[in-house]
Amino acid sequence: MGNSHSSSKSFRRKLTKKKSLQKLINSESLKQQPIYDPSKFHLPKNDKDIDRMHEQHFLFKHIWGGNFSSPIERTLHKGAMVLDVGCGPGTWLLEMSTTYPQSQFYGIDIEQIFPKEIKPGNLEFIQSDITNGIKFDNDHFDFVRMSLLAAFLQEDKWIHVLGELIRVLKPGGYIEIIEHELQYSIGSCFSMLITPLLNFIRSTGANVQIMQKIDSLLTTTTTSSNHHVSPSSRTAFSTSHPTNMLTNNSSHQVNLSLSNTLSRLTNTHSDTRTVIIGSVHGGQTGKVFEEILTSYFENTVVELLPWYMEISQEKYLELWKSCQKEFKNRASSTKLFKFWGMKIPQ
Ligand SMILES: C[S@@+](CC[C@H](N)C(=O)[O-])C[C@H]1O[C@@H](n2cnc3c(N)ncnc32)[C@H](O)[C@@H]1O
Repeated sequence: MGNSHSSSKSFRRKLTKKKSLQKLINSESLKQQPIYDPSKFHLPKNDKDIDRMHEQHFLFKHIWGGNFSSPIERTLHKGAMVLDVGCGPGTWLLEMSTTYPQSQFYGIDIEQIFPKEIKPGNLEFIQSDITNGIKFDNDHFDFVRMSLLAAFLQEDKWIHVLGELIRVLKPGGYIEIIEHELQYSIGSCFSMLITPLLNFIRSTGANVQIMQKIDSLLTTTTTSSNHHVSPSSRTAFSTSHPTNMLTNNSSHQVNLSLSNTLSRLTNTHSDTRTVIIGSVHGGQTGKVFEEILTSYFENTVVELLPWYMEISQEKYLELWKSCQKEFKNRASSTKLFKFWGMKIPQ
């Protein structure tokens, strides 16, 4: 225990000596000379990424207690049109299309990592960039979902994509969005990885905390009688993230556009779940979550993050190992956020 704490401390001292973290975080030169195409920096690139997404699907299903929260079960049994945007390897779709054979399922992803041939007959995949619009007619789907895309979409494109999701949704149909916020209650060691990661993502124009914004707008744009938030999760939400959204004009514009888009929904709900990282404090769920994070840090961003932090890959991996020790010594948690709502019937 003492060892891990002191090794993380000494690592931090070395890192601080090399270059202050704040300096790393604010490094403007990275914006001017990107080695990485920001929109592609953590797109799934290999089998390990695909395995991680499969594992994540089953963990999230366990955490949320099912594959969806919207009241659509009966429609799915009767025969619904369903769209999953940014579907990745299609794990959710493969399960759903097998469970509801009367319904027709579509998945869209910019990368062709979904199965091309071996899949149920009621499931189709389309390779497409959703920031260019969704190539379906208005009012086409009974259920539209999007899971874990905030880090990939610039904030203004996010608003456009949300508008598209609602456009292709039938009046009376449901939309469901899931996001993951890494920076909830974490120790100093994990912060040393998460802070530069979030700053890099922010430098691409994406906002991983967009769901905070959506949640606060849902409570103001929809009347309190048709927006429901679980009381326990609301407490966790407001204590961890004081909302400070309307700080400048562009932020005001974003809020206005988001409000307009969200005003097309009713019967909205939001729900947050806290996930403790590691088996010591988080049991089996925490163990699986740590495995997913390990794959993310040791595979997905193993080149990007040391480059951004200006440290060697060796030091970076050493830091990740110290984070894993920290998960044992301190209960570190992250947060999942979900909202769902119905398109206002005409
Ligand atoms: C973190 S993964 C989430 C996958 C899946 N939705 C899940 O919850 O496991 C994000 C997915 O979004 C896809 N993606 C990113 N930008 C996209 C875009 N502009 N258009 C379509 N898909 C995109 C990526 O290829 C990746 O498969």
